[in-house]
Amino acid sequence: MTESLTVRDNRTGTEYEVPITDGTIRAADIGKIKASEDTPGLAVYDPGFVNTASCRSSITYIDGDKGILEYRGYPIEQLAEKSSFLEVAYLLIHGDLPTKEQYEAWVHHITYHTFVHENVKDFMQGFRYDAHPMGMLMASVGALSTFYPESRNISDADNRNIQIIRMIAKMPTLGAWSFRHAQGKPYVYPDNSLDYSGNFLSMLFKMSETQYEPDPRLVKALDTLLILHADHEQNASTNAVRSVGSTQVDPYSAVSAGVAALFGPLHGGANEAVLRMLKRIGTVDNIPSFIEGVKNGDERLMGFGHRVYKNYDPRAKLIKKAAEDVFEVTGTNPLLDIAVELERIALSDEYFVKRKLYPNVDFYSGLIYEALQFPPEFFTVLFAIGRTPGWLAQWLELTQDKEQKIARPKQIYTGERGLTFTPAEERWA
Ligand code: SDX
Repeated sequence: MTESLTVRDNRTGTEYEVPITDGTIRAADIGKIKASEDTPGLAVYDPGFVNTASCRSSITYIDGDKGILEYRGYPIEQLAEKSSFLEVAYLLIHGDLPTKEQYEAWVHHITYHTFVHENVKDFMQGFRYDAHPMGMLMASVGALSTFYPESRNISDADNRNIQIIRMIAKMPTLGAWSFRHAQGKPYVYPDNSLDYSGNFLSMLFKMSETQYEPDPRLVKALDTLLILHADHEQNASTNAVRSVGSTQVDPYSAVSAGVAALFGPLHGGANEAVLRMLKRIGTVDNIPSFIEGVKNGDERLMGFGHRVYKNYDPRAKLIKKAAEDVFEVTGTNPLLDIAVELERIALSDEYFVKRKLYPNVDFYSGLIYEALQFPPEFFTVLFAIGRTPGWLAQWLELTQDKEQKIARPKQIYTGERGLTFTPAEERWA
């Protein structure tokens, strides 16, 4: 069986052999199909890139039908249970698990790059008191490119590496400060004697105590949540990072585009939307009428559905389990009963079953974040901190991919052609 298509163009009767490689055909081969020598070749039209591969990648593997997620070949279940966020970040960026020496050096460098320039603090204090933390994070990450102008030299490996370390290290600082800003509390500086997630909790919640002592069970739960959000192949925000990165801009600017894309309620913003949806439903008795609203198209069941997973998102299962650990410390979240009943009803309702709509990563994560005393508008910042190593690994892979070019898709033009311009004074006379 030859791995190819034979395409017959009925306009000309010409047949074309189109090779199949890795389950894809190249759009460039389709471009050779022409109605005549002086007309442009065919293009592929795919709004939202539902069925378009944009790159070759060895970072994350997803099987949406089987509900499989692996980072560099390691199943997410094993990493969530046995690894740490910084070890997973190393794996995503470098492609292999670190040796003891590599891990200790990695942790040391990240620990000692958690501070940001004092001007960043002044810059962040310029936001309104009620500024959305994602807007603050998006702006602050982009602003970091002005503090490290050498980061524009993306062809230098050492330079790429130090910017990657800086961004993984500073994201929690920027995120925590956006949280403290919204609460009108003083910003807390990093405490380098704590580990990554413990330091993050300290910058979020430390008040007048000499040193913040994070609860190890909450540190473990937060670290697990960060692992579960670390990468997810070519999702919308990673696509944004790659598209912006394809112009050879610095990585801070590319990642700030990822933060912007993640902000949307159809993507990372869904975890905030889920909490607001559960609060709006209010009680288990209101679920049937809410579900009716969804089926009538008046609502979306936020936290359900996925472009790739047509089965249960493996992360949702693991987050649901992490929720139990957190609720042991914080007490359960009454909204959990509504979420569990909503899931039970949805998974037995033909509307959702037919559309293969299952809980995704955002369905349960918000319940944990709320139990950890985070306000809903902060949930997506937590997602962004977790996703940072993934965005950077994908950006790094892009810079090394000889096949990659500046992202510049075609369009189907539907507007007017060849009009004659009449100057304003004549038009309005
Ligand atoms: C993330 O891509 C990633 O990997 C993302 C992510 C990551 O880790 O980076 O996994 C993180 O973004 C998870 C998704 C979070 N978003 C939500 O929970 C928002 C609610 N879900 C959706 O809006 C939707 O499911 C998407 C955006 C996630 C996927 O959208 P698609 O693939 O474009 O699917 P679609 O909108 O074309 O829907 C197909 C059908 C439609 O019905 P019909 O028009 O065919 O009748 O399913 C329906 C949709 O109306 N549908 C839903 C629904 N999601 C899809 N109906 C009700 N509630 C929903 N949540």
